[in-house]
Amino acid sequence: MQEYDLLIAPIGSLVTCESDKPRNGESLRELPIITNGAIGIKDGKISFVGKYDDLDNFKAKEIINAENKMVTPGLIDCHTHIPFVGDRSNEMIMKLEGKGYMEIGKSGGGILNTMKNVRVASFESLLSSAKKAQEKLLQNGVTSFEGKSGYGLDFENEVKQLKVLRELNPAQKVISTCLSAHFLPPEFRNKRENYIELVTNKILPFVKVNNLADFADVFCEDGAFTIEESREILLKAKELRLLTRIHADEIECYGGGKLAAEIGCKSADHLLMADDETIDSLKEKSVVAVLLPATAFFLRKPYARARKFIEKGCIIAVASDLNPGSSYTYSMIMVLNIAVFGMGLFPEEAIWASTLNSAYALGIENEVGSIEVGKRGDISIWDVCDPIHLFYPFGQNPLCCVVLDGKVVLRNGI
Ligand code: NIG
Ligand code: FE
Repeated sequence: MQEYDLLIAPIGSLVTCESDKPRNGESLRELPIITNGAIGIKDGKISFVGKYDDLDNFKAKEIINAENKMVTPGLIDCHTHIPFVGDRSNEMIMKLEGKGYMEIGKSGGGILNTMKNVRVASFESLLSSAKKAQEKLLQNGVTSFEGKSGYGLDFENEVKQLKVLRELNPAQKVISTCLSAHFLPPEFRNKRENYIELVTNKILPFVKVNNLADFADVFCEDGAFTIEESREILLKAKELRLLTRIHADEIECYGGGKLAAEIGCKSADHLLMADDETIDSLKEKSVVAVLLPATAFFLRKPYARARKFIEKGCIIAVASDLNPGSSYTYSMIMVLNIAVFGMGLFPEEAIWASTLNSAYALGIENEVGSIEVGKRGDISIWDVCDPIHLFYPFGQNPLCCVVLDGKVVLRNGI
């Protein structure tokens, strides 16, 4: 007799995303789907996946009938800027009036605007806004996400941001990134090298020793940090055994993507302007291309050339880039809609990019990202019949249930 804490059965369309490696190229178009499926969960872990008819004698404490529904792994948002506070809607209007993102940043708005808000925020208020963000992501089917510093831009406030991330409810898996090299803070305007030194000699070593971050990141762009500065910071991070990633080639093809390949970063993120050579180098070194289509949408910029990345065999992931300046959305479904209708992904590709491939970009693919025996019971249930219908009626949130760490945490009409 098999015993389950939770049994989801029968399931109309069970998209397992089971795969021995992250998907790329043509294999992104094939989704493993079990029709009339079932999932059993015990002690927070998946202990049965298969056909409903293959379930042996069982006893289940709770059963969810998902007969006409589609079940996927919980979505994974591998690039957000949680935690932050403050509103930058005024910049949205400036952008609609034609001002550029970096132009606003260089004139003291942009990232420095949020920096001011984050610096004066107490730990408790920053934590409370991060908890609200965490809850909103969950209401959109996201069961794991990444967050980062980068709005403190000094030792005390960078550490404050990272400590907030470590205080969040661990039922939702949270990966943390130190992005102290996000923008040069005003007090270092004429002494850039001193800020780089602060990051490499003080912030990163402290973050490592105190286990405050999993990754280090740099905004490598004209007006933010140069290639040389980015290389120095990331090499130091690598030496400290932090994983590395880069905000690369967003505003222009500046070289951040190629630097990610040179250093062996886990991912290069944005890549709106990446040229063919950059894409080749990412493919060559298996650096994940994290595409952030909601940012292009929000900034009204051309999308990253997703079809080119796929044609060249890159591993792609899609994430929200949730932040108050360039992509203020908590909705992964909205992001995936933009990925499909704006950036040109097929529904199957969008699903891989926000599940297993996104887990891989964070280095957590052995734990989450697919529905397989032994993995965490992180599951989203959608009120649609198949992957196409997750996108076809766009602008809706058809999420009807979320299972997190084996427990039902959201239920709506099921
Ligand atoms: O990923 N491009 C750099 N950083 C963020 C935006 C941060 C902000 O504007 O507050 C991004 O888009
Ligand atoms: Fe970002």
